[in-house]
Amino acid sequence: MSDLLEQRLQQRLDRVLFSKEQIDQRIESMGAEITRDYSGQPLTVITILQGGALFMADLIREIHLPLKLDSVSVSSYEGTESTGRVNFHQSKLPDIDGRHVILLDDILDTGRTLSAISQRFAEECSPLSIKVAVLLSKQVDRAEHVDADYVGFEVGNEFVVGYGLDYNGEYRNIPLIGVLKDEYIQS
Ligand code: XMP
Repeated sequence: MSDLLEQRLQQRLDRVLFSKEQIDQRIESMGAEITRDYSGQPLTVITILQGGALFMADLIREIHLPLKLDSVSVSSYEGTESTGRVNFHQSKLPDIDGRHVILLDDILDTGRTLSAISQRFAEECSPLSIKVAVLLSKQVDRAEHVDADYVGFEVGNEFVVGYGLDYNGEYRNIPLIGVLKDEYIQS
């Protein structure tokens, strides 16, 4: 991204919560933890598109093990609000029979997305185990209980963007995580 474009996007932020350096460091240590936990095991990492794409790309390069990669595409947000429904954009699920699965998402918020996907995997597939890794965990009362096994950072109850997280499809390519200025959010 050009410096000018990056500056323009970043000018729309009220606050930066986590810099690129902080994110890189945290992902490096999460990758080291996963490398220790899954040594010698058949591992498949599944990312939730679109938001988990950047996290996945950086995290798997810090997991020093053979692994397979797959994805599921779902949506549940409109603007800054959860709709309460999780829509799967594909009917076929990844082939995870006989494998340990780590499900990756950018953020754990209401818990609906990770809960719906874990439930479908457990009901319709035969994985050896399913664990969850999220870059961010939002401090809110969850609508659905989800145990996140690997968590990058805790965030307060506010809408965040950057590093894969979007507002109406934009801001995913900002290389840090922040909070948008009110003037850039349509009420
Ligand atoms: P749930 O509520 O199902 O949320 O745990 C998971 C999905 O909702 C999106 N989400 C956000 N996106 N800023 C965003 O840009 C946020 O603060 C936020 N909270 C939830 C995200 O796509 C996540 O995968």
